[in-house]
Amino acid sequence: MTFNPPSDVMIYDTTLRDGEQTPGVTITTDEKITIAEKLDKLGVDVIELGFPAASLGEQKTFKEASKLGLNAQISGLARALTKDIDKAIDADADYIHTFIGTSPLHRDYKLKMSKEEILDKAVTAVEYIKDHGIIAEFSCEDATRTELDYLLKVFGAVQDAKVDKINVPDTVGVTRPGKMNELITNLRQEINVPISVHCHNDFGLAVANTLAAIEAGAKQAQCTINGLGERAGNASLEEIVMSLHKFYDINTNINSKLLVNTSETVSRITGVKMPPNKAIVGENAFAHEAGIHVQGILANSETYEALNPEEVGHKRRIVLGKLTGANAVRAKLDEYNIKLNDEQFNTLFRKIKSLGDAGKTITDLDFRSIAEAIQGKP
Ligand code: KIV
Ligand code: ZN
Repeated sequence: MTFNPPSDVMIYDTTLRDGEQTPGVTITTDEKITIAEKLDKLGVDVIELGFPAASLGEQKTFKEASKLGLNAQISGLARALTKDIDKAIDADADYIHTFIGTSPLHRDYKLKMSKEEILDKAVTAVEYIKDHGIIAEFSCEDATRTELDYLLKVFGAVQDAKVDKINVPDTVGVTRPGKMNELITNLRQEINVPISVHCHNDFGLAVANTLAAIEAGAKQAQCTINGLGERAGNASLEEIVMSLHKFYDINTNINSKLLVNTSETVSRITGVKMPPNKAIVGENAFAHEAGIHVQGILANSETYEALNPEEVGHKRRIVLGKLTGANAVRAKLDEYNIKLNDEQFNTLFRKIKSLGDAGKTITDLDFRSIAEAIQGKP
């Protein structure tokens, strides 16, 4: 495995394009604008706002976003077709991400085109974007299932056509970290423009594959908030960013303290709830129940936390249940400034255990009312 990561990585957010392809999700213009403003505050470098050729509504969204004066560049997706590119240009996109399938499956079954025809379309699309003075990023769709010599030929040709960035999609999430690292290492020998990756999560490896690509020198991660996207989704922005900061000391422009708030907004608008155990932003990401863990956390939070919850805008939570220890109960009593004598404390402790054994979850509200009742308050 090559280990030659850059010192800075650009974050290209595609929540509003690939994320909108999450089955059952559609995002209106107003909602896209709300999310785009959040993403801009979060510090993403590029916002892929949508696919201008898809509808009039998409074009309207681009026009509205161009008036906001965002710091992030606003990118529009376009097939490698001048009619799609024209729609993105007319919609005032700052940046066009154009793509064409290059794998045997895409060539033979979807596009029914020869290798030469596809190469020609790719080059024509990039030249057309550059002739309009717009930033061009080019993707070989299904890159990870494309023959390496052909992939190098297409990426080499778009590089000659003055593309600004190339993107390597693992369109159906079938690669693994070692293979992704090797692919980026091979591309880096011939390609001088920045390399981006776009990993799908069909085997749960999207973040690992993205990090492996960055270890090999990729300079941009395409990703989505909460890992939204087609099928099992894309690489999750929050997991990539925190891994880059924590494990590699790589800089991004992301203000990590806004991650939870951004995740909640996206979840509310899209209606896609996060599982409680979702890394970084899930409700339980910093929740502790087992007595041994709570004791450790109260002594030094690093015993059972990989990150400080404040770093990502989260809160630590101590959950009460049958695994709760006396220290956790004392900490909760202190939090609510409830004073109990030893006998009252033992009654409370037994009550929490018996509710836990009966399969009940004890919320903070339950805890306060039980403790205050034992204390003798109305
Ligand atoms: O997964 C994919 O290949 C894509 C392309 C449009 C980049 O989303
Ligand atoms: Zn995708």
